[in-house]
Amino acid sequence: MAATKHMPDIMDLCELSPAYVRAIAPYQPGKPISEVARELGLDERAIVKLASNENPRGISPKALLAIKAALPELGRYPDGFDLTQALSKKLGVPAQSIVLGNGSNDVLELAGMAFLTPGCSAVYSQHAFAVYPLATQARGAESIVVAAKNFGHDLEAMLAAIRPDTRVVFIANPNNPTGTMLTAAELESFLGRAPKNVVIVLDEAYNEYLDPGLRCPSIAWIAKFPNLIVTRTFSKVYGLAGLRVGYAVCRPEVADLLNRVRQPFNVNNLAIVGAVAALTDHDFLRESFELNVAGMQQLQDGCKHLGIAWIPSYANFITVEIPRLNNQSQAGAVFQKLLRLGVIVRPLAGYAMPDHLRVTVGLPSENARFLEALEAVLKG
Ligand SMILES: Cc1ncc(COP(=O)(O)O)c(C=O)c1O
Repeated sequence: MAATKHMPDIMDLCELSPAYVRAIAPYQPGKPISEVARELGLDERAIVKLASNENPRGISPKALLAIKAALPELGRYPDGFDLTQALSKKLGVPAQSIVLGNGSNDVLELAGMAFLTPGCSAVYSQHAFAVYPLATQARGAESIVVAAKNFGHDLEAMLAAIRPDTRVVFIANPNNPTGTMLTAAELESFLGRAPKNVVIVLDEAYNEYLDPGLRCPSIAWIAKFPNLIVTRTFSKVYGLAGLRVGYAVCRPEVADLLNRVRQPFNVNNLAIVGAVAALTDHDFLRESFELNVAGMQQLQDGCKHLGIAWIPSYANFITVEIPRLNNQSQAGAVFQKLLRLGVIVRPLAGYAMPDHLRVTVGLPSENARFLEALEAVLKG
């Protein structure tokens, strides 16, 4: 057609994007309640979402108050000073060691941007968090995926997989989607033996859900291991997933590099004031932690009753194994049937776990809804 003669075909245009970008498998988020309601003609209020590891209690009340009070300030660009100061005080590190992110997802990407290029590699575990391949592939770097051990990180194999061209190792502790945990002794031994010219990104998104006795002294390790970046988030126990705020803690020299590739205003005003307030909402944090312990027990008891196996989890979700039928995976079909009953969980085929479903620990009534629905589906 004459009108299109001088226009490049859209596919030709897309092929100008580097092959490594075109090869990226897009991130699959948990299905939103509104979408499931629309697609299946269900009432939104009757839907239970246990698919994205959010805090089932929602936002911290103190954070909500602070956000409401900050609404008139939205005409101004944000200033992360107060949040950086609050984190610096809480963690006992200089403010220059903290890099704020639009969710911790953002700081994981910053680590990729600052250290990865085509021709180098990043190491991470099989069944590890989906953003590590994204942060690696978006830089044109090679992914070295190390086989998991009992669904968790095999640190010895990861150490052995590091090559001269490796610049970054990503480790999630606890890991998503498996919920597995590494001990402080295992991690410290790994950090002590990993090459000093390889950045180790220790992703602690679920740190606050660990029993305090199991938490690693990861922030203190930064003094001993200059190549360590610890990342954390306000999306989980703090209940601020929709605001998008997380942070990295590392040596000021490393933080300086992350800040160079960071968007100047990557964390918005409301996220900053919400996070500052959430840090001090000790009752909410304690109650959320306790709710998770009880909910995890409720889900485990329910699975035991149904004869369903699960991977022992140290986070705010549990990954269950759906038995095969005639050696065929049933997890995808069970996921769909649960959806039709108004229960959203997360299928894990994209994580090379086709027999598993990940279930966020919800409110007691939500956990009960999931267990009832699962029982109904399994009984056919
Ligand atoms: C292991 C892990 N790291 C990081 C994140 C990123 O969370 P956010 O970007 O909301 O901070 C998640 C989210 O689910 C996660 O599971």
